Amino acid sequence: MSVNSELNSIIDPDDLVKNQTNNPHMQDLIHARTSRRTILKGLGVVSLAMYGGAALSACGGDDAVAGPAAPVRYMAFTPVAKSTADQVTVAEGYEISVISALGDPMTAMTSEFKNDGTDRDWENRMGDHHDGMEFFGVNTLGRYDANATNRGVLATNHEATTDTTLSSHFIHANGGTTTLPRPADEVDKELAIHGLSFLEVKLTSGKWVADKASALNNRVTQNTIVDIAGPLRGHVALRTKFDPNGLTSRGTLNNCGAGKTPWGSYLSGEENWAGYFARAVGDDSLRDAKANAGLDRYGRNSTSTAGSASRHGWETAGNSDKYTRWNISAVGATALDDYRNEINTFGYLVEADPVNSRNKRVKKRTAMGRFAHESGAFGLPKVGEPLAVYQGDDSRNEYIYKYVSDAQWSAADANSSDVLATGDKYLDSGKLYVAKFAGNGTGTWELLSTSNPAIQNYAGFAFADNADVALFTRIAADACGATKMDRPEWCTVHPTTGEVYFTLTNNSRRTAATADAANPRVYSDTATNRPNTLTGNVNGHIIRMKEGTGGNAATTFTWDIYLFGAEASANPATINLSGLTDDQDFSSPDGLWFSPYSKLLWIQTDDGAYTDQTNCMLLAANPGAVGDGNNVTIGSVTTKMGAKPTADNLKRFLVGPKDCEITGITETPDGKAMFINIQHPGENSPLATINDPTTYTSQWPSNMGYGQGRCPRSATIVITKRDGGKIGS
Ligand code: FEO
Ligand code: CA
Ligand code: CA
Repeated sequence: MSVNSELNSIIDPDDLVKNQTNNPHMQDLIHARTSRRTILKGLGVVSLAMYGGAALSACGGDDAVAGPAAPVRYMAFTPVAKSTADQVTVAEGYEISVISALGDPMTAMTSEFKNDGTDRDWENRMGDHHDGMEFFGVNTLGRYDANATNRGVLATNHEATTDTTLSSHFIHANGGTTTLPRPADEVDKELAIHGLSFLEVKLTSGKWVADKASALNNRVTQNTIVDIAGPLRGHVALRTKFDPNGLTSRGTLNNCGAGKTPWGSYLSGEENWAGYFARAVGDDSLRDAKANAGLDRYGRNSTSTAGSASRHGWETAGNSDKYTRWNISAVGATALDDYRNEINTFGYLVEADPVNSRNKRVKKRTAMGRFAHESGAFGLPKVGEPLAVYQGDDSRNEYIYKYVSDAQWSAADANSSDVLATGDKYLDSGKLYVAKFAGNGTGTWELLSTSNPAIQNYAGFAFADNADVALFTRIAADACGATKMDRPEWCTVHPTTGEVYFTLTNNSRRTAATADAANPRVYSDTATNRPNTLTGNVNGHIIRMKEGTGGNAATTFTWDIYLFGAEASANPATINLSGLTDDQDFSSPDGLWFSPYSKLLWIQTDDGAYTDQTNCMLLAANPGAVGDGNNVTIGSVTTKMGAKPTADNLKRFLVGPKDCEITGITETPDGKAMFINIQHPGENSPLATINDPTTYTSQWPSNMGYGQGRCPRSATIVITKRDGGKIGS
């Protein structure tokens, strides 16, 4: 979901704030408040060092062995203009086509999608709101092959659905019911459109197509049994009526960012799962203080007059426990007689075997903590050293995390024959850290363990052991004085330097009093086509970190702000600090991915602030490195900013259709095909006229000749270069 719904004063499930602790913002620790003067200094030096350098050396692979042929020069394309057209605009010389969209059949037996609200068999169709996605090459034996380029499985997150009030408006014949109780036949469809999909794609006669009949295709829905793995497997707090042993659950929910492990499995982040569960008023009187504190910190308070209502009202659809499990009130005699613990089986990075998904259950990797997960990005693997997984918690004023495996990397595991067994080795036992940024461009990783006195002695919550830390990770991070960030979205790791980049998408709760060096901007933005003025960090920024001694296991880092999102015309001293031009300006960076093939950084947006002038977009960048810029002072806050971008090292590559988010980026290993997702086109269509498609804000993708019927659809598109070259070249 985009932040657009916030503009209409409705809580955006993608933009939640649950951190009500007095845990200090970083600036409280390091800055005495000074004046509100606006000072800009030290911006005169622009580093050109990285343009060309990283990219040219990076494409050594197949281009270097081609002999006398010149290395590929990336960032050669002409930037595309901002656009509010209801279409995908891509850089000249490239073409796009739709691979698959919401509702497309995934088996030979499933009928073509009619898109008129009457479609059935949703467990065998593509889900909704395509988000994070990875390509896994498949060889002629039908097995995973990291180098296979013409055939693969696209593993895709189906995060959510387009809903202003309860119902998934675009998949039901009449827009669906917007009051409780919800009809079972509507809820059954909605349970199926959330989760994961695995879809075979292949290059056939020069064109990428989905194989709708492939035996590799599969769906994970909210009815699919999944395994709990790691320290919370069998834990008393995960035992339910469905599994009294706490070993399994069903489904994976609100899957947002993604990741690819070094051994060839798929990681998927459960983001805003909490909002799907209902909790009755007064349930707190039936639970102990610790359970209540945990539920409150994760957004399921029961003390207000409304309690915690669920996003879709799935719990109201009948007596079957596929519905009642979404009610987490203590209604039974014991925890084994109801679903009070069901919510504790969500909130994790989950691992899937994308090429064998029909035979291997998804595993929820609880050692990496429980919060609103976005992507999971690995530090560069080094033989004999632990692995690091970087992770963001996307809610306003939440934190940045790092997991460090106990197991040391063995190169042989890159060719694992059982990727989930390899996942057991690296992802079920390790140390979890949270980031604390200091104002001088340094920072520390704080250990989330009961061995840390800050957690052991925390007055706010009695942690019994490290399973408690895995379950109530946010509270453990509170105890450590972690830095409250401007909504950490995706992270990605530079393929050669190992530096870690995080998008901080925006933060309407950032104030002058809480601005700090890592989250320094607070300003207002108005537009004619929305009712309210936006405040806080309106356009977001991208922060990057360089590990200190110890690499993946380091407990210190240095950092700077690589890029500030802004409108090109905004004040260069307070807002457009990166000096973005009309060819580069963007708002609300969200998806973020370094291509391991081109080494380019791809920035995707999910915006509701600049949408009066442009739809969401995809930009390509060739960034420098931590420390290549200067100090900059905004009001009373001084921060470290990277070198300003140039026209050559930051360019807009693509703009999407109306009301969409651009997300889900991945490429084939030859770098010649890029797959991205267009999420929720037309999501701001008016509910009052939901039966009248002519009032929808988007007609995509049927307006480009893909599919038929009533409603706009989330979809995967493939981007190729007309001359057959590499993407970005
Ligand atoms: Fe689902 Fe934080 O984006
Ligand atoms: Ca989003
Ligand atoms: Ca996102």
